[in-house]
Amino acid sequence: LGVHKEVDAHLLAHLSQKATNKWGSLDDSLHRSSGARSIPTNEGVYEQPEPMTPDVVVKEKILQRRSLQLRHRQQDWQESPEGQKLLEFRRSLPAFKAKDAFLRVISDNQVVVVSGETGCGKTTQLPQYILESEIGAARGAECNIICTQPRRISAMSVSERVAAERGEKLGESVGYKVRLEGMKGRDTRLLFCTTGVLLRRLLVDRSLRGVTHVIVDEIHERGMNEDFLLIVLKELLPRRPDLRLILMSATLNAELFSSYFNGAPTMHIPGFTFPVREHYLEDILQRTGYRLTAYNQIDDYGQEKTWKMQKQAQAFRKRKSQIASAVEDALEVADFNMYSLRTQDSLSCWSPDSIGFNLIEHVLCHIVKNERPGAVLVFMTGWDDINSLKDQLQAHPLLGDQRQVLLLACHGSMASSEQRLIFENPEGGVRKIVLATNMAETSITINDVVFVVDTGKAKETSYDALNNTPCLLPSWISKAAARQRRGRAGRVQPGECYHLYPRCVYDAFADYQLPELLRTPLQSLCLQIKTLQLGSISEFLSRALQPPEPLSVQNAIEYLKIIGALDENENLTVLGHKLALLPVEPKLGKMLILGTIFKCLDPIMTVVAGLSVRDPFVVPSDKKDLAESAKAKFAARDYSDHLALIRAYEGWKDAEAKQAGYEYCWRNFLSSQTLKVIDSLRKQFFYLLKDIGLVNNNSETYNTWSHEEHLLRAVICAGLFPGISSVVNKDKSIALKTMEDGQVLLYASSVNGVVPRIPYPWLVFNEKVKVNSVFLRDSTGISDSVLLLFGGNVSRGGLDGHLKMLGGYLEFFMKPELAKTYLSLKMEMEELIQKK
Ligand code: CDP
Ligand code: MG
Repeated sequence: LGVHKEVDAHLLAHLSQKATNKWGSLDDSLHRSSGARSIPTNEGVYEQPEPMTPDVVVKEKILQRRSLQLRHRQQDWQESPEGQKLLEFRRSLPAFKAKDAFLRVISDNQVVVVSGETGCGKTTQLPQYILESEIGAARGAECNIICTQPRRISAMSVSERVAAERGEKLGESVGYKVRLEGMKGRDTRLLFCTTGVLLRRLLVDRSLRGVTHVIVDEIHERGMNEDFLLIVLKELLPRRPDLRLILMSATLNAELFSSYFNGAPTMHIPGFTFPVREHYLEDILQRTGYRLTAYNQIDDYGQEKTWKMQKQAQAFRKRKSQIASAVEDALEVADFNMYSLRTQDSLSCWSPDSIGFNLIEHVLCHIVKNERPGAVLVFMTGWDDINSLKDQLQAHPLLGDQRQVLLLACHGSMASSEQRLIFENPEGGVRKIVLATNMAETSITINDVVFVVDTGKAKETSYDALNNTPCLLPSWISKAAARQRRGRAGRVQPGECYHLYPRCVYDAFADYQLPELLRTPLQSLCLQIKTLQLGSISEFLSRALQPPEPLSVQNAIEYLKIIGALDENENLTVLGHKLALLPVEPKLGKMLILGTIFKCLDPIMTVVAGLSVRDPFVVPSDKKDLAESAKAKFAARDYSDHLALIRAYEGWKDAEAKQAGYEYCWRNFLSSQTLKVIDSLRKQFFYLLKDIGLVNNNSETYNTWSHEEHLLRAVICAGLFPGISSVVNKDKSIALKTMEDGQVLLYASSVNGVVPRIPYPWLVFNEKVKVNSVFLRDSTGISDSVLLLFGGNVSRGGLDGHLKMLGGYLEFFMKPELAKTYLSLKMEMEELIQKK
């Protein structure tokens, strides 16, 4: 233990200081949260509804006048030439024919389910119809329509579009609100917001006072937030008989939702799309003349493996619960072939989430050279993939030639200037190629797309409840998603869809994707349920459209108890309250809070920002070694990816101050775009922490110990526990083990993945990914004493219970007397954190 004297000395110093002054205000600030001003929430600040004017008559008059103003302004606009053009466009949309029927059905029913092909006008038109009909009835100023979107970017782009259709600026009658950002004025009557924003509003306003219509869009995606919102709304409807709920979906499985809301009426808007010709891998190879060395026995593949796979898939289908894994198994053969052909193509960077880049490149070349004009939309799995592919394509003589091709990326975290380009038509016969995530399947419509390239995969979080292991893996998409992707090609004229997988693989796809609620860890959700005071977590979740497995729920509750967010009786602790107010995963929130207590906030904010966006270190496929050694420079003696991140960020800040940020990134294989996102997130975190009363204006106060690397390790451990693996240095290798998975491995992109030995007994990690083996993405070495002090939560079952729990981790080192001393110290620290 002598080795760790230094860290222990610091801990003692901090503990004895107790830093309680600041914490004295904790209860006060919680109290303040429900005050009148503005409410800090996970999704930023949501204003409280204006207080009612006592004078009803005056109020009525004002409302009427505003309604008339709204109506007149619309009339003027619709008579202008620009307005007429847009009106004509709006009338050409399939939704327009359904307008009267739609308005009738929502006036007669409290809940309605509307389905219709993507692009038929659900999102942009239906909310507007409600608004217009209310304005027409001179009730315009009274209505208050909220339309939720699963993603920030769609909330923003849709609101912008609707405002433009109405000849207004954003923030007049149409506005938007996403986490930490928004545009909303006094007259805003139609608000597009993320589902999270509405959930946060429910936190302070349980009956949605003043809201007349709630529209939940894209429910077919079955996102966790949407499923959660539906449970809450279902309970709210009887209490608010005047509230209308409209559910919108791009696919036809509306029955499921209808029966959930006691047989609510459904309405389908028949769409228009042009026919789309489909090509599967076998045709593509023939059509484009692509030679695949490892693939020359395509006939064998087509027959024998098809048969085998289909048989397997059939057998497994009988056992419904296993479909997901079974289809994966059945497809492994195909998968293997897809990947092996990539290796044969000598792509040096093999990563499990990449697809056959060379094949994509080849298909794109074929389109650019031989096909008629029209934009191309390529579906990829994620940001990393899109960027690496973009790099590769930019180096290509034809595809990288800006006079011929405009290459664009489209994913959740792109800049808004980039966003706009996606919707514009390039000039001079330049062909637009958009590399997108599955976000472009339904929530974003790019009008001029004629060619779709579908890699068949999407990055999907899945969750193995038995091993309590969340995995973020690229997995095969569903048939419904493949149909959606295909449909994107037929928006303006007949199109073509290139599926980069054989037909037999398509046949084995599941019909629909598993709802997110059934495939992700439920920790954040459970915290929200508790914060919203919705009663017992298990009971509440059992009322979901498709309730999650009890084991997953138990795991989440157990986790929240381990980190000290819930007490033994499942009540929120003070820490839990705070965590629910921070818009990051509980573990990252806990790090932030500890960063303020232990006065090392700046670097911890960097780590949390980095972990909640993505790694700023980039690894180009052809310069892997150089990139790895560049990263290693930041963490040569630290054995920590998280400390490397802090150093890289700080170096970048210094370089930026000297206007040398770009060179710095280039030299060190860093993404300046990601660093900028991290920079702005850090600012937001500070603002949020201030808003919930954890820090004051003076950031200096919270950085007294920011240069204490030992302390940083400890705070990182406190957040990431129980994400921990043991380290045993062997002669030629390092053996890593976690409690759940046994043997695990490190990605080479981790600084610890390339060192000969790790002088720490433990590694904490944020993310593990299950491929064939379990891989840790990132890691930080920590000592026994840090694990003892910062891992887990003593208040669970007292010292003995805690010893038992940590025993599993600490059997190598445990000396009971010593551990006891440490643990009583730890108890003291936890008291500090919880301020009981
Ligand atoms: O929601 P849904 O998929 O049914 O369609 P929408 O998003 O309401 O879009 C209706 C039409 O508006 C699309 O077909 C696009 O042509 C157009 N639109 C647009 O031009 N620009 C946007 N930002 C959004 C929609
Ligand atoms: Mg839509």
